[in-house]
Amino acid sequence: MTETLFTGITQLVTPPPGPQRGVAMRNLTVVEDAALLVRDGVIAWAGPRREAAATAHVHDLGGLAVVPGLIDPHTHAVWAGNRLADFEARVEGVPYEAILARGGGIRSTMRATAAASVPELVALARPRLTALARSGATTVEVKSGYGLDFGAEVRMLEAVCALQAELPLTLRPTLLIHVPRTEGRGAYVRAVCEELVPQVAREGLAGAVDVFCEREAFTVEETRLIFAAARAHGLRVKLHADQFQTLGGTELACEVGALSVDHLEASGEAQIAALAASDTVATVLPGVTLHLGLPAAPGRRLVDAGACVAVGTDLNPGSSPLFSVQLALALAVRVNGLTPAEALTAGTVNAAHALGLRDRGALVAGQRADFLALHSPDWRELAYTLGTSPIRDVFVGGRNIQN
Ligand code: NIG
Ligand code: FE
Repeated sequence: MTETLFTGITQLVTPPPGPQRGVAMRNLTVVEDAALLVRDGVIAWAGPRREAAATAHVHDLGGLAVVPGLIDPHTHAVWAGNRLADFEARVEGVPYEAILARGGGIRSTMRATAAASVPELVALARPRLTALARSGATTVEVKSGYGLDFGAEVRMLEAVCALQAELPLTLRPTLLIHVPRTEGRGAYVRAVCEELVPQVAREGLAGAVDVFCEREAFTVEETRLIFAAARAHGLRVKLHADQFQTLGGTELACEVGALSVDHLEASGEAQIAALAASDTVATVLPGVTLHLGLPAAPGRRLVDAGACVAVGTDLNPGSSPLFSVQLALALAVRVNGLTPAEALTAGTVNAAHALGLRDRGALVAGQRADFLALHSPDWRELAYTLGTSPIRDVFVGGRNIQN
């Protein structure tokens, strides 16, 4: 057994464990002059320093704020090639959807990714995931979705598996059914349901299946078929919806108990009401708003309506080259209207819920000892700072992964 008492904590800040919805997202516990007891990678006790039991091994953090490790519930961190030409075209006025419709955008990343081997994909994704970890992420979801064919989809998931074996943070792979083949799309959806989803479930390559439900991607009916196949094979489901159009994907996801619906930039009253009435997490992605110049997802209205809101980077080459989960939280405050406290809850316990995880996100006994020591004695630097990192140390299972 290894046991460490962390001291020198000016503020120990945490949401309660488990998902938080509505304005309850603001209810953080702030313990001044605190201590945190970690036993075998799990929090054994947290509270005021003066109440801590004596322990042989004490680690004095030196007088700064501690918050839970951040959870990034939405990334596409594995890709090859780049989208720099798209970026220039978009800045000059060509819409994202138009680039995709003419065979560029996501489809160009698919061509480059399908041509890469697993070791090449691992080498490309490693520094991206390392950057996310430095920015405070202790758990990161990683999607496939740039495989032109099923072999390439599986290679992407194998790359995530190889990265999990070497990186200290937790990676959660998701199979993303991203855009259909341009010809024979009915047959493609059938093959996804009858071949790819069963294979991924059988080989344990992903825990969830995500679909891009949008005019340039999959319809609501196609999404329903893919969801049914996923659930028949014991996989949870998630959805990219309402990025450009409200097609009904959000309502479908809430109806079938999806883990989360992500994007929501175009969501209106009906979608907000559906999310607020469900256990499905509403994940906002402010990096997309910034990079594509899209309207912001209605984070404030979702919280006020009572939804469980999470925030993610959506790290990907086309719509969100955002390599910092801390910055995603800071942007959610400016772009989506969350308060700093709501942003912390969105990036911890609610993001965990969006991944179906219950064992992390809060600094209470029994949770994983994933936590961040800031540079500052005041935790609010976390959602305040833009452009430099307010985070000094990242602890995963009680171990500092920056050293
Ligand atoms: O979450 N919108 C769809 N999928 C990704 C973008 C992928 C890309 O542009 O390469 C997203 O925004
Ligand atoms: Fe995405």
